[in-house]
Amino acid sequence: MPNELTLSIIKPDAVSKKLIGTIIKRFEEEKIKIAAMRMKRLTKPEAEGFYAEHKGKPFFDSLVSFMTSGPVVLMVLQGDNVILKNRDIMGATNPANADEGTLRKLFAESIEKNAVHGSDSPKSAEREVSYFFKKEELVNL
Ligand code: CMP
Repeated sequence: MPNELTLSIIKPDAVSKKLIGTIIKRFEEEKIKIAAMRMKRLTKPEAEGFYAEHKGKPFFDSLVSFMTSGPVVLMVLQGDNVILKNRDIMGATNPANADEGTLRKLFAESIEKNAVHGSDSPKSAEREVSYFFKKEELVNL
């Protein structure tokens, strides 16, 4: 789809490894626009609500604890087919299965501490962008 939006999160593991600039540079090199950006530490309710679809799974509590362990960078990425494009740049959820050169292959430690999040479909992108950002916060690039 032309001119899509997707939510990207630089997770606490990547922030603590000082990879914010490297990851943003990669998006810019790939001609992806950043329509909004904020750094913050997620609260437990925020992380639980964001990952609500995983509630009840064995990794849920650990995921929430990890995602609230330090600051994250929340970004809205914009561009043609950016949902899929971002997923290609990130690579597979489990870094063991991620292709060479992807952010997760390069920087993830484990399936949980996997450096970045990206929305996985147009429906989740819409939900996830609006979970963290108001329409007025998106710049008109
Ligand atoms: P993310 O793309 O943010 O979406 C859900 C997150 O849950 C995923 O990245 C991982 O960080 C985490 N996750 C998914 N599957 C597992 C798993 N089997 N064990 C631990 N964490 C997982």
